Amino acid sequence: MQLRPLGDGGLAAEIAGIDFAAPPATEVAADLRRAFAEHPVLCLRTDGLTPAGYLAVARLFGEPNLQLLRSARHPDHDEISYIASRLRDELGDGRRVVPGAEWHTDDSYLQRPCWATMLYANIIPESGGDTEFADMYRACAALPAALRQRIEGRRAAHTYLSRRNINFVPKRSAEEEAESPPASHPLICRHPDTGREALYLNPNRIERIEGMPDEQGDPLLDELFAFAVRPEFLYRHEWRPHDIVIWDNRCTMHKATDDYGGQKREMLRVLIDGPPPR
Ligand code: SIN
Repeated sequence: MQLRPLGDGGLAAEIAGIDFAAPPATEVAADLRRAFAEHPVLCLRTDGLTPAGYLAVARLFGEPNLQLLRSARHPDHDEISYIASRLRDELGDGRRVVPGAEWHTDDSYLQRPCWATMLYANIIPESGGDTEFADMYRACAALPAALRQRIEGRRAAHTYLSRRNINFVPKRSAEEEAESPPASHPLICRHPDTGREALYLNPNRIERIEGMPDEQGDPLLDELFAFAVRPEFLYRHEWRPHDIVIWDNRCTMHKATDDYGGQKREMLRVLIDGPPPR
């Protein structure tokens, strides 16, 4: 197994030299999890996987969740959803959906968000379609003292369709709505595994800072979001066919780039909730 850092600052790394088509040995799986704890955006270079083989790789890191939106689910695997250029708002007005085209962390509108997300590059465009990542450990550590003081101990209300929503989100069915009521999370979280502090932000789903009037909270959120995605905290992933990228939602944000026009793009997404196998 070869590990090589990607970009600066330690946020991302790639792993090459593993045949993911066969189940890796226990010690290789443990090495992968260690690498992921050190690099919260980890790219696994693969030679191509079936959906079932992809799920087997996901299970090295933890237990996949069922995907909320039924319309995007894979026909044979409810734990896989499509992030694809063909997606439309099937329960709404039918318009094109580009999931995640603004900064966010996955599932923050749930009280128990998935802790990691995986994408598998099934079809990538000839040009464009990169995914950007922001390091919320480093953003938190670099927060100016005065800004930190204003958010210390504060929580934010997150909801599927926030009044501050930027990136269009598809309409949910009544069942999906019942499964995703609003949630509350601290703005600064301590990572349960590393003990490091990280900003926990989602510009697309945060409704407000709790206990603060919106006239005060909205400009504070704007300032915080702009700080969190300063260029020094970012890594941009240029996909190769069959790449898997797994990221830790507790210490990163990410964003899809909608710059590939009419070209096809298809990613298979897995949301990881439960703990890894021991
Ligand atoms: C996402 O936000 O999960 C999608 C990212 C991407 O398609 O690049």
